[in-house]
Amino acid sequence: MYIAAIDQGTTSSRCLVFDSAGRVVADAQQEFTQILPRPGWVEHDAAEIWASVEAVVALALERGGLAASDLTAVGITNQRETTVVWDAATGEPVHNAIVWQDTRTDRVCRELEGAVGQNRFLDSCGLPLATYFSGPKLRWLLAEVPGLRERAERGEVLFGTIDSWLIWKLTGEHVTDVTNASRTMLMNLRTLDWDPRTLEAFGVPAAMLPRIRSSAEVYGTARGVLEGVPVASALGDQQAALFGQCCFAEGEAKNTYGTGAFLLQNTGTQPVFSRHGLLTTVGYRIGDEPAVYALEGSIAIAGALVQWLRDNLGLISSADEIEALARTVDDNGGCYFVPAFSGLFAPYWRSDARGAIVGLTRFVNRGHLARAVLEATAWQTREIVDAMNADAGIPLECLKADGGMVVDELFMQIQADVLGVPVVRPGVKETTALGAAYAAGLAVGFWSDPEELRAHWKEDGRWEPAMTAEERHDEHTRWRKAVTRTFGWVE
Ligand code: G3P
Repeated sequence: MYIAAIDQGTTSSRCLVFDSAGRVVADAQQEFTQILPRPGWVEHDAAEIWASVEAVVALALERGGLAASDLTAVGITNQRETTVVWDAATGEPVHNAIVWQDTRTDRVCRELEGAVGQNRFLDSCGLPLATYFSGPKLRWLLAEVPGLRERAERGEVLFGTIDSWLIWKLTGEHVTDVTNASRTMLMNLRTLDWDPRTLEAFGVPAAMLPRIRSSAEVYGTARGVLEGVPVASALGDQQAALFGQCCFAEGEAKNTYGTGAFLLQNTGTQPVFSRHGLLTTVGYRIGDEPAVYALEGSIAIAGALVQWLRDNLGLISSADEIEALARTVDDNGGCYFVPAFSGLFAPYWRSDARGAIVGLTRFVNRGHLARAVLEATAWQTREIVDAMNADAGIPLECLKADGGMVVDELFMQIQADVLGVPVVRPGVKETTALGAAYAAGLAVGFWSDPEELRAHWKEDGRWEPAMTAEERHDEHTRWRKAVTRTFGWVE
C-alpha cells in the first residue's frame, strides 16, 4: 500500500506517491495559467487548479500502475494564503482566486492599520498587516464583488485557502487545517480558532469560514478520481516541508528555495511572537496533540531572480546555467543585487521598496552579476537567521535546505559561508509532498510516530563555511547598505 500527496503550488500542481520507506514511486506535474490582469495583480482560476489536480492524480496513478484502492490515504499540501470564494450550492468560484503574491490590498492593509499600525493584529495572529495574507484579500473580495457580503452572511458562499478548496472538491467537507488557517490573519494562535475581534475588524462573516482541524486526521473520504481514499492531512507547503525535513525538535529549521524562499524554525508548543520582523505561524498539529509552532522568515524573491536573469535579461538560457556563469569569477566584483521586485518581505515588510543593483563599475561583468544573484538569496536568508536567533534565542546550528536551488552547489557553499553554519541537503528533495504524505500516513497508522520517520532522512550533501569572519562581516555590511538603497522608491 502507498500514500499519495497532492502538492498544489503557485505555478503547478503535482501528485506524488510514496512507499512505506518514504521513496517516490510515481510522480506527475502540470502547470496552470498565471492570470496577471494589472501590474501587481496575480490571480488563478480555482476551477483550472482543480482540473489540474484531477489530471495529475490520474496520471501519477497510471504511471505507477496503481489504482485508488492501492492508496491507504492521501495528503494535501498547497500554496498558502491564496484566497478562493465559491458558491456553496454550485461549487463555482465567484471570482478568480487572489494569489499570495498579489499586492492589490495595499490600501486595505493601510486602512486596517488605523492608528495602531502594521502590528495591530500581531498579538492574535502572529502576522503583520501585509498584502501577503488571506484576510485582506477576503476583505477586498467582500467589498468589490457585488452582493458577495450579503451572500456570505447567508452562508451561500464559502471561503477557503487552496487546501479547503481541494478538500471540499474531494469530500464535500468545508474544513481547513491549523497551518493554513494561521496564514489568514483571522485565526487566534492561542485558541486555534477564528478570532471574533479580528473577524469584526475585517468585516468577515463567520458563516463563510471553514472549520479549523488539525493537520493530520481524516477529514472525509474522497470521491471521483480518488474514490474511497481517506483525505488525511493538510499543511501549507512550507509547513509541510518543515515536517518532511523531520524538523520535529525545537530549534530545528529548514529553508525551501523555490520562487521565493521560506525559512521555518520549530519553536515547540508555545508560539514565539517576533520582535524582529518574523512571522509566528503554526508548524503542524498531529491529531489531538498540542500544536507545534514555528517562526518563519518569508523571502518573496529567490529562484525567481534566477528566472528573471534568464527571461528578462537573457544572460542565461536555462536556470541551471547560473552556476557555471557565477563560477567564471571569484567574487561579486563589488556588485550587490537586492531583488525587492514586489517590496521586501521579512524582516523588513517594506511595500515601498523596489529592486536595485548597486556597486557597479566598469569592472563588473556577467559573471559578477550571476554571483550577486546567488548571493542575494544567501544574504536574505542570513537576515532571517539573525532575526530568528534574536527572537527564539536558540542559535541555528545547521540549516536543512531543499527546493529547486539546492542543486546549485556553488550556491550551497555561498549559503554556508554567509551564515557561518553548515548547510545540509537531504536525499529526498521532494520534502513538501513528503511532509503531507507523512502527516496523512500518521493519521491512518501507516507510520506509527514522527521518530520512525527520522530514519528515512538521509543526508546527500553538506557544505561547511569557508569564509573568514572578517570577510563575512565586511560583505554583510555592504549588503545591508545595498538594502537601504531600495527603501522609499514607491510612495
Ligand atoms: O506563502 C507562499 C508559499 O506557500 C508559496 O509556495 O512553493 O507554491 O511558491 P510555492
